[in-house]
Amino acid sequence: MARRHFPSDFLWGVAAASYQVEGAAREDGRGQSIWDTFSRTPGAVLHGHTGDVSVDQYHRYHEDAGLMKDLGVGSYRFSLAWPRIQPLGRGDFNSRGFDYYKRLCDALHQRGIAAAATLYHWDLPQPLEDAGGWPHRDTAYRFAEYAQACFTELGSHVDLWITLNEPWCSAVLGYHEGVHAPGRKDLSAAWAASHHLLLGHGLALQAYREQSNLSENPIGITLNIDTPRPATQDPQDVLAADRAMDLRTRMYFDPLFGRGYPERHFEAYPGETPPEVKDGDMDLIAGKLDFLGLNYYFEPVMAFDPEHPEGFRIAPGYHETTAMGWPITPRGLYRQLAWVARETRGECPLYITENGCAMDDSLSDDGLRCKDPRRVQYLRDHFSAALDALEEGVDLRGYFVWSLIDNFEWALGYTKRFGIIYADYINQRRVPKDSYYYLREVISGSEEL
Ligand code: NOJ
Repeated sequence: MARRHFPSDFLWGVAAASYQVEGAAREDGRGQSIWDTFSRTPGAVLHGHTGDVSVDQYHRYHEDAGLMKDLGVGSYRFSLAWPRIQPLGRGDFNSRGFDYYKRLCDALHQRGIAAAATLYHWDLPQPLEDAGGWPHRDTAYRFAEYAQACFTELGSHVDLWITLNEPWCSAVLGYHEGVHAPGRKDLSAAWAASHHLLLGHGLALQAYREQSNLSENPIGITLNIDTPRPATQDPQDVLAADRAMDLRTRMYFDPLFGRGYPERHFEAYPGETPPEVKDGDMDLIAGKLDFLGLNYYFEPVMAFDPEHPEGFRIAPGYHETTAMGWPITPRGLYRQLAWVARETRGECPLYITENGCAMDDSLSDDGLRCKDPRRVQYLRDHFSAALDALEEGVDLRGYFVWSLIDNFEWALGYTKRFGIIYADYINQRRVPKDSYYYLREVISGSEEL
């Protein structure tokens, strides 16, 4: 088979997020977020871990930028911590917060790396949660105000903007399942949160478009949609896989592309209250995206379940799994890209804004090396699936590996390592794993796919 390469203008990157890597939780005027509170709630995060220190990127961004330069990536996807920039979530902005991100962007640019900034990767200022959080409509307006200030202050530093990261996680894991901050368990609240997250996105997009001097750089949103496979070709399983898409895919994808909400999802829970949609909301939410970001980890298998309100359950897939217990399903990435391209008629450029895996990594005895052959294999297979989609005409513009470095994996604390760089949490030493060197070869084109 002929050697295959990604196009020369393909954007390679690595990704991380503020609360997961920054540390410095009380420095330079940073306010508290819902994750500061949640990680201090007994039993919420494994071993009581917090993001207080993490890998201390707040102080070590130069070293990390250097590692990215050696890796050869064209971009770093990071997130802006809202509580650093606007400590109370409303009112005054903190110039020291903006300064940090300017320094970070400068450090990247000096090394030829583009800055891809996510405005919201889950760290809502605690005072906004105290006022009702995302289920409360005002939070959408607060987010838009914060976004607008970021566009003004950081517009000449950021090369690519992402409004929200995985709004499904913020809404459902945070307000329905209670496993993420703020730890609430209320389905109607989660639906309201979903709507207000999307509304906040729409308002931010509108604000960005109005600041015409900034509109050259692309702006989009990152979703973690699911495109499950049916367990069998039995029509009931096929329907189950389709209905399973309402929750994580259609609740976000459909309104963003002007198709409204999947009403049957709300109808399946008659005791709950669907989100209150006001005039004009859906038009704002469907504002034109410059790209859609996809975070892909695996493709679930669904089977019919008469007991479930929407008639589905996760079926065993008999795949190998990662340290998260997630199945390894690279062809699912190809299928997801093809699905999205079909649904958007190829009219929306795509980025894979996250893909990667947690494995049980450890350092060699001399502490100089970290062999992670299973991650290398995982990445190779997923790159290859992405390349298949690209060669078939899917408008895939770039690929960000999650993650640059091991970090705080939310409710699982530091127990799961997703990095292509090993973090020694005792002394903050960074050790590139074999997968880092593998990625370097792929980027330089010397590794075949
Ligand atoms: C998605 C999230 O955006 C990121 O924060 C998380 O660490 C990874 N998935 C892995 O679970």
